[in-house]
Amino acid sequence: MEQTLSIIKPDAVAKNVVGKILDRFESAGLRIAATRKMQLSRADAEAFYAVHAERPFFGELVEFMISGPVVVSVLEGVNAMSINRDLMGATNPKEAAAGTIRADFADSIDANAVHGSDSVENAANEIKFFFSDREIC
Ligand code: CMP
Repeated sequence: MEQTLSIIKPDAVAKNVVGKILDRFESAGLRIAATRKMQLSRADAEAFYAVHAERPFFGELVEFMISGPVVVSVLEGVNAMSINRDLMGATNPKEAAAGTIRADFADSIDANAVHGSDSVENAANEIKFFFSDREIC
């Protein structure tokens, strides 16, 4: 059994498609082991995306991630990390395969509806960033 972190980003929350996106996860056999709607602070967003701090898009990424509430979840299942990546589609929705979350709900590479951990190791760190052990069932 594997766990991964999902963030439903401010654009998708604003579009009121949280339930539709969570349904994609459950329909693919993943379980929602924890979930929370929250407003990220600037410090939260800068720390979570610290790996991108030197990238030219970092400032816009942080501004976007604090522009409204997000829904953070721990998804669990066999191969949960890669299944979630497949469900999301490519980072740039213009390149995302038909039927993926980003193809269906995202508008741009910044407002791209969802984030998902890109390795099992990063997933463990990202889950710890948002959830304590007692919040994960
Ligand atoms: P995410 O999976 O949340 O990880 C970092 C985010 O930076 C990414 O999704 C995109 O929304 C955003 N981003 C903006 N520009 C780029 C870019 N050129 N390459 C990768 N990510 C980008």
